[in-house]
Amino acid sequence: MKIVVIGGTGLIGSKLVTKLREHGHEAIAASPNSGVNTVTGEGLAEVLKGASVVVDVSNAPAWEDAAVMSFFETSTRNLLNHEAAAGVKHHVALSVVGTDRLSESGYFRAKIVQEKLIKNGTIPYTIVQATQFFEFLKQLADISFDGKKVRLPDALFQPMAADDVASAVGKVAVGQPLNGTVEIGGPETFRIDELVRRRLAPLNDSREVIADPNALYSGAKLDERTLVPGKDARLGETHFADWLKSSASQPPTAKLPSAAVATATKQS
Ligand SMILES: NC(=O)c1ccc[n+]([C@@H]2O[C@H](COP(=O)([O-])OP(=O)(O)OC[C@H]3O[C@@H](n4cnc5c(N)ncnc54)[C@H](OP(=O)(O)O)[C@@H]3O)[C@@H](O)[C@H]2O)c1
Repeated sequence: MKIVVIGGTGLIGSKLVTKLREHGHEAIAASPNSGVNTVTGEGLAEVLKGASVVVDVSNAPAWEDAAVMSFFETSTRNLLNHEAAAGVKHHVALSVVGTDRLSESGYFRAKIVQEKLIKNGTIPYTIVQATQFFEFLKQLADISFDGKKVRLPDALFQPMAADDVASAVGKVAVGQPLNGTVEIGGPETFRIDELVRRRLAPLNDSREVIADPNALYSGAKLDERTLVPGKDARLGETHFADWLKSSASQPPTAKLPSAAVATATKQS
């Protein structure tokens, strides 16, 4: 089966392409680096020829409100139009658990628009909403640092390993379209500040990490369970302590555009 992975060079995309190929699929990593740009449309018609499935795990290069909205709206419209012309049978997109509860955030307003375009489109689809990646925790500390302390929302989350995200998205991609949303998450729930503290320790990052009831997440106020998936979520196998042991010496890989810093650290 030919499966085109939009954002196939990114954190999740590169793992996904490897896993799909291991399972015998023709997985194509499509991104600006390989001449495929979903915003300009460059290379889309060519790469989608003969494709059965498109998996969109791309991310916006800039996260200012207008830029991120423009990226997800233009990119998703272009993709769906080209998929219809190419006869693609399944559009899979990676989104975030709680997206619909995070509309105070410009980033999440853009993800809401992405999801709506897919739901209202003509291509059979599955939206996979994932919780935060373990690989994102260091960046979460960086964007939540006010120069003195790392201030994080006083809330719960259920993060997961990027490897488990890629496995779950891969299973969805080779299955039937659900025309609905599945949630995926990690096997354990933590307080956000607790886990960020545990992530920073082996990096010898001595910044003080605190839970601040006024701290925002990507510009949005959180309730205790805004980021926590529902009871039907498919759970990854990797526990945080094991991931930490296996990756402690590696640099974090989830990218975060610098423009997100100001938004994410803004206090209410
Ligand atoms: N971070 C988290 O904790 C988290 C949690 C749940 C869900 N998610 C979702 O996961 C998705 C993927 O995140 P990630 O961390 O794997 O992303 P990432 O590592 O930042 O990779 C982004 C990918 O998008 C590609 N891309 C950028 N502009 C493009 C364009 N115009 N056309 C085509 N491709 C383009 C990049 O290509 P180049 O390499 O060529 O630039 C890259 O392959 C995002 O949609 C995000 O919302 C993230």
